[in-house]
Amino acid sequence: MNNNESPFIFGRKATGNSFTDREKETERLLSNFRNRVNTVLISPRRWGKSSLVKKAGDLTNSEIIKVIYIDAFNLRDAGEFYTMMATEVIKGTSNKIETWVEYVKRFFSHLSPRFSFGTDPFTSFELSFEMDSVERNYQEILELPEKIAIDKKIRLVICIDEFQNTANFSESALFHKRLRTAWQNQQMVTYCIYGSKQHMMSALFEKQSMPFYKFGETFHIGKISNLDWVSFITNQFQHTGKSIDNSMAQKIASAVKCHSYYVQQLSHLVWQRTTNKANEDILIAALDDLLSQNAMLYQRDTEMLSETQLNFMKALASGITRGFSSQKNLLKFKLGSSANVSKLRKALVEKELVETQGKDTEFLDPAYELWFVREILKK
Ligand SMILES: Nc1ncnc2c1ncn2[C@@H]1O[C@H](COP(=O)(O)OP(=O)(O)OP(=O)(O)O)[C@@H](O)[C@H]1O
Ligand SMILES: [Mg+2]
Repeated sequence: MNNNESPFIFGRKATGNSFTDREKETERLLSNFRNRVNTVLISPRRWGKSSLVKKAGDLTNSEIIKVIYIDAFNLRDAGEFYTMMATEVIKGTSNKIETWVEYVKRFFSHLSPRFSFGTDPFTSFELSFEMDSVERNYQEILELPEKIAIDKKIRLVICIDEFQNTANFSESALFHKRLRTAWQNQQMVTYCIYGSKQHMMSALFEKQSMPFYKFGETFHIGKISNLDWVSFITNQFQHTGKSIDNSMAQKIASAVKCHSYYVQQLSHLVWQRTTNKANEDILIAALDDLLSQNAMLYQRDTEMLSETQLNFMKALASGITRGFSSQKNLLKFKLGSSANVSKLRKALVEKELVETQGKDTEFLDPAYELWFVREILKK
């Protein structure tokens, strides 16, 4: 069978057959969801947080434990957050139009939202609130999940994606305090909070002075191993009537340092070019394609760097991962003083271009690194 549809998925959550590995992480989430342990999940961009939570959430979702997803990516302020929370909690706990309206009457005493129904009023609606009324009565919304759970004798797991985005809200510290205060008193609702921007998430959840300190179990998910990728890639080829050697599959995973999104994208580009069996030439062409698809972005990110930031990236790209502040490296790469090195690193972490693992600093995006070496370092 030669199936025309690519078995590799990127840019969307990996589900079903395109989801691989992460068994331990899935187990851990499942256990937290079932045992009412709040979870904070952190990783660099595109390593697989959303896919993992969706997987564990779908396995948990049942008549007695309802899983609700909130994506904070596009939210601009606390008001929008509360509105989305109310909408999704009501939608997620009932599919009957009468119940929605009844919930609002029973559980809100000061808030009176307006419903606007979608094309199919039985499956979709939006709520809207008067914004100053939300500001005064936000507690009613934060308490809503617990009230509904008690009323319906169910438990809720509320998963909030892209949580780092809430740090951009005005008065975000106050907002976070309010969430924490409400959530810590709830018995029937468990929260799973996840996002990228590691430095920001870590600051929110791991600093003693911050409201979410010791809110729940915090874990940083790692990468899927090369070995797991090899069996995934070879299987996906096989299922679609094509083939690839273990060694070629391994080269795909290594080329992009096992970064989930890029492994899938590169595999897809190799798969697309392969009629029967993948080979080295195909991999080279696929990698060129991947880099040129992203070149504009990389170009832009590079142009935004200050001169010393660029020098720091050059040092990284030439293989240095630590010891930037040694006299030799300061001079060789024109990094200024050692105090300057810390500043540079901090700025680049904030731009999400590099990440630090213990003492080492690395490119966060392995494809950007490849591009940088080709286009900046070697020119
Ligand atoms: N378990 C997995 N198995 C296979 N591929 C995966 C897995 N997890 C993630 N991927 C791949 O990585 C891509 C990014 O995954 P996902 O969106 O879950 O990551 P994320 O960490 O939530 O990203 P972001 O930081 O952009 O929110 C997916 O589109 C998919 O190609
Ligand atoms: Mg995500």
